Amino acid sequence: MLRSIRIATLALFALACALGQAAAQTAQPLFAPRPVVAQHGMIAGPERHATMIGLEILKNGGNAVDAAVAVAFALAVTQPDAGNLGGGGFMLVYLADRNETIAIDYRETAPAAINRASFLDARGDPDPEKSRNSALAVGVPATVAGLALALEKYGSGKFTLAQLIAPAIALSKNGIPIEADVAETLPRAAERLARWPASAKIFLNPDGTPLRRGELLVQTDLAATLELIAREGPRAFYEGSIAEKIVHSVRAANGVITLDDLKNYRAVVRAPVRGTYRGFDIVSMPPPASGGVHIIEILNMLEAYPLRSLGAYTTETLHFMIEAMKLAYADRAVFLGDPDFVTVPVERLISKAYAAERRAIIDPARAKPATEIRAGDAPLPEGKHTAHFSIVDQYGNAVANTYTLNFNYGLGMVVDGAGFLLNNELDDFAAKPGAVNAFGLLGAEANAPAPGKRPLSSMSPTIVFKDGKPFLVTGSPGGSRIITIVLQVILNVIEHGMPLADAVAAPRIHHQWLPDEVAIEEGIPLAVLRALEARGHKLVQRPVTGAAHSILVTPNGLIGAADERRLGALAAGH
Ligand code: DON
Repeated sequence: MLRSIRIATLALFALACALGQAAAQTAQPLFAPRPVVAQHGMIAGPERHATMIGLEILKNGGNAVDAAVAVAFALAVTQPDAGNLGGGGFMLVYLADRNETIAIDYRETAPAAINRASFLDARGDPDPEKSRNSALAVGVPATVAGLALALEKYGSGKFTLAQLIAPAIALSKNGIPIEADVAETLPRAAERLARWPASAKIFLNPDGTPLRRGELLVQTDLAATLELIAREGPRAFYEGSIAEKIVHSVRAANGVITLDDLKNYRAVVRAPVRGTYRGFDIVSMPPPASGGVHIIEILNMLEAYPLRSLGAYTTETLHFMIEAMKLAYADRAVFLGDPDFVTVPVERLISKAYAAERRAIIDPARAKPATEIRAGDAPLPEGKHTAHFSIVDQYGNAVANTYTLNFNYGLGMVVDGAGFLLNNELDDFAAKPGAVNAFGLLGAEANAPAPGKRPLSSMSPTIVFKDGKPFLVTGSPGGSRIITIVLQVILNVIEHGMPLADAVAAPRIHHQWLPDEVAIEEGIPLAVLRALEARGHKLVQRPVTGAAHSILVTPNGLIGAADERRLGALAAGH
């Protein structure tokens, strides 16, 4: 009797697996995948003007870094919700002639006057008003320093900074008609922007309504700022009249940035984090980004499961992914922070041995409640928008760049007279141990605010290598979800063998340990969702969003895929 029940159960299990696998074929992409193929160079990015500006640089013999600098300055004009001068980010660069990958950290820093109490209320509780909506939230803007450093150290030498900024100047001066993407994001940010007259002047009509699709966005102050940077270099931003304008605007709004904070800002070159997955090398951004560490940690945990034969959208595969995500995000909350201030046990967290210990916690049949999950044992060794773009050039160099103002349009505050928006990045600190940021991410001591410290980030520009050569260039916006978005693009390509555009368009899932729920995009077969619920997973149907504009390097050429979750995204090549 028992035996026949077991056989029946096994048969049912086999049937369920078969159904799951069949269902995998029917997962619906969120948009029609439209790959772009080219032989020499490729850019996949969030906005068409910027992509085409970068492409011109590539066609004229520029390298991927030259193009990245031009694209990033252009996005500061054409996609003001995320492209920026007033924020910061990370750039991962593969240099073909040196066969080396370097990571440029241009994350914003906390001004010297920021301390542990800065984002607390009178009772000592976290005060999101301060960390998200006040000028206290503004980190020292880092983008201009980062882009200038990238060009100086790794540009081809064929283009000056001024030449690469010129297209952005023209666009800001002449104006560009508002397109679908900005037309969609502006109304949602209108209230935040209306708080600051310098912002309202640019983005809102005199009656207070946001500029509509087709109306001209002219940014003359921004053009003057860009012209000054083009003429005098980044020092004009950090020590000259632009610095003065930043300090004036921020302090008038009770913020604490000083001229010294700006003068002392430095972008830094760091060694990337490295892992392997089924023979591919995964190279990504190190702390103060958390994505690289945790993408590698999750891949290490997953490597032991036969995901490919289980199938992409089966209950088993999604279950293992969700459980591994929870374990990694529990570690993130405790161990990750700015490596210049705290010791982050990176080597341990990305080791195969550590993944084996963490994997042992995973129950193959049941979802483990988040309350039963803790950060692992990684003792310290002795002693709401973001923009990502990917570029590959004709010389074999590659750039993955993600930069941000944190929220869409950052704090919403334009620097008076300088025409660019400031970030509210300091909300990425843990206002106090155990506090969550706007993305629900929990933080501890390692990510406490401190003068000059960089808040922990989820941004994860990543390059996957095959036989020592760049194979997949990727990254995404999406706040806390960035890490799992990039993870899924990588798994879809190298584990499930999906064509790049399908891998990007495929529906995504996300779990970040707390809250204890799995966000599920539309398109995943219902039977699989029901089976996950039966295992104890709490599912919530909501877009995981992101915009993982990616490039695949194949023997037949470069394949670009824009992620059309972001309206107006474009991949183009030559
Ligand atoms: O650095 C981080 O992790 C966040 N400030 C990124 C914010 C973001 O991606 C918002 N976009 N959707």
